[in-house]
Amino acid sequence: MAGSQTYYLTTPIYYVNDVPHIGHAYTTLACDVLARFMRLDGYDVKFLTGTDEHGQKVEKSAMNAGVEPQAFTDRVSKNFRDLVSLMNYSNDDFIRTTEKRHVESAQAFWRRLEERGEIYLGSYAGWYSVRDEAFYGEDELTTTPSGKKIAPTGAECEWVEEPSYFFRLSAWQDRLLEFYEKNPDFIAPAGKRNEVIAFVKSGLKDLSVSRTTFKWGIPVPGNPEHIMYVWLDALVNYITAVGYPEMGEGSEFAKRWPADLHMVGKDILRFHTVYWPAFLMAAEMAPPRRVFAHGWWTIEGQKMSKSLGNVIAPETLVNTYGLDQTRYFLLREVPFGNDGDFSHRAMVNRVNGNLANDYGNLVQRVLSMIGKNCGAAVPQPGPFTEADQALLGAAHALLDTVRGELKAQAFHKALDAIWAVVGDANRYVDEQAPWALKKTDPARMATVLYVLAETIRHLAILTQPVMPDASSKILDQLALGPDERGFGRLGEGGALKAGTPLPAPQGVFPRYVEETKGE
Ligand code: ME8
Ligand code: MG
Repeated sequence: MAGSQTYYLTTPIYYVNDVPHIGHAYTTLACDVLARFMRLDGYDVKFLTGTDEHGQKVEKSAMNAGVEPQAFTDRVSKNFRDLVSLMNYSNDDFIRTTEKRHVESAQAFWRRLEERGEIYLGSYAGWYSVRDEAFYGEDELTTTPSGKKIAPTGAECEWVEEPSYFFRLSAWQDRLLEFYEKNPDFIAPAGKRNEVIAFVKSGLKDLSVSRTTFKWGIPVPGNPEHIMYVWLDALVNYITAVGYPEMGEGSEFAKRWPADLHMVGKDILRFHTVYWPAFLMAAEMAPPRRVFAHGWWTIEGQKMSKSLGNVIAPETLVNTYGLDQTRYFLLREVPFGNDGDFSHRAMVNRVNGNLANDYGNLVQRVLSMIGKNCGAAVPQPGPFTEADQALLGAAHALLDTVRGELKAQAFHKALDAIWAVVGDANRYVDEQAPWALKKTDPARMATVLYVLAETIRHLAILTQPVMPDASSKILDQLALGPDERGFGRLGEGGALKAGTPLPAPQGVFPRYVEETKGE
């Protein structure tokens, strides 16, 4: 049994100055689905999310709000903790970079780099974007007619000149390239991998890793005039959460590091695939196994922005369309890794098509026929025909397919595969017409309904990671107990037992009905 096999996955830690929107919800959702899947598949999972609370951007937001940074971050980081219950995330830990465990960890990591001669004191003169919390080279910037310097991300940059510690990033160029070469799965999707390799090949400069012109950060050990660059501080959260600096035998760090997956948006790929593995190798620690950079959500074809007023709060989606509907839509609508567009129309099509009509109706029809015609108990099947075996075979084969797709973070393909069996089952109902068998061949009707109930059992077990509540309601209706819902129960071993009493069926996926205006 895979009980001792561990799986450690993380989301980015979000800047607290923003109010959580669909983009943040998306990244954490993808991780939640993987975490739930791996747990059901028998892994010992740790799923981490949290908030990035230091740096100039957060300090500025606190000042604008007229509050001390600590009080400000205490207040606004709650928005992200509230998102956890709103979206039904199953994270095992929530880290805040202002916590004592993290401050100690970041300082220990700094000392480790310093002891190995990887950090030196110098001075920085160059461009910095507070919005991106990133340094840019002159050659990367464009100049507006009024003389403003703009980063490739669209963020405005300011000139910074100050004493600064540097990390010897330039010394790691070849070893990074070698690492990418030896670990072809480290960066996904493949296009992103090529981008990173091209960037590293173009040459790396040493990286400024401390600031002196503001105060809101973790003091550099031995020189508290400096605070750590917020990205060094932030990346270390991934090891803090597994107990760093405690790394000895039997420690959580020894058990869980390196992380199996850092899930990120494409905006922060470079930090995770260049700086972070270089920091870790320099500290003589293992880099993570994989970084997946997903795409960007736009709203009805437009970039989300506060000034356009089109930022979608996850709460709005959940209240309008339902929680599991929202979870399903976000992972089904857009091939994972691609950019995607949210539109009301696309959402309604998924909710009413895939969920209410295809899956919901299947479950509802089958369970009500069983309720009415089989004494509200699992029917007793007779011998299986070829058609029965074909449908059951498709249901049994799903786990391997879904596992393979999720290993590549292809959520959309995993859902496509599950919905292919939903389609098979609906065609089977129409072909077998159990309602007509009621009078002519009740034994055959019982077999058909049994095959369908068994198929639904597989579908509901496999949709748990994406739609935990709805799947649980369906599994309740099949009278399956809490220990009968893991992937170990898929296949014939966990098959429904004829005669088991079933509760009264109830609908799980309501149709979305458009509000009619002014009546
Ligand atoms: O970058 N579409 O935090 P952040 C998809 N603190 N995903 C989106 C999105 C959109 N429109 N907008 C945001 C930071 N995201 C750092 C991270 S990690 C050590 C430190 C998601 O609050 C996406 O995952 O700016 C993106 O990478 C992340 O939010 C950026 O969050
Ligand atoms: Mg950002």
